[in-house]
Amino acid sequence: MKLGRLNHVGVATPSIEASIAFWRDVMGAQDIRAPFDMPAQGVRVCFVDTPNGQIELIEPLGEASPIHSFLAKNPAGGQHHLCFEVPDIRAAKAWFEGQGKRVLGEPRIGAHGTLIFFLHPADMGGVLTEIMETPEGEGH
Ligand code: CO
Repeated sequence: MKLGRLNHVGVATPSIEASIAFWRDVMGAQDIRAPFDMPAQGVRVCFVDTPNGQIELIEPLGEASPIHSFLAKNPAGGQHHLCFEVPDIRAAKAWFEGQGKRVLGEPRIGAHGTLIFFLHPADMGGVLTEIMETPEGEGH
């Protein structure tokens, strides 16, 4: 497998609205996309564009959201995951599994509309790692 581009850094937050204000007013972000809900994943998401990648703001959505436990440990929010692109999601899954890395669930459609999966942080140097099939036609 050949590692692709760092697509985004996931940042969990108790309030996307408050985080948008932070990225706009403190960090000077000029291009902040509209937040949207992903009910199947239990998250509300907002992308902040930077010149060479994105910040993915993640707020819990619903009682079963996987973000609740993270925020219980990190009440102010914090860095949650890194996401890297690969050309072929199935090949990447087989590659990581072949090295004994735990893939969390089956590949599913992520916030960018392409297939993604997560790798267990305990197998990845402590970093929750998202692998994403490169979005078609994305030149960034
Ligand atoms: Co992500």
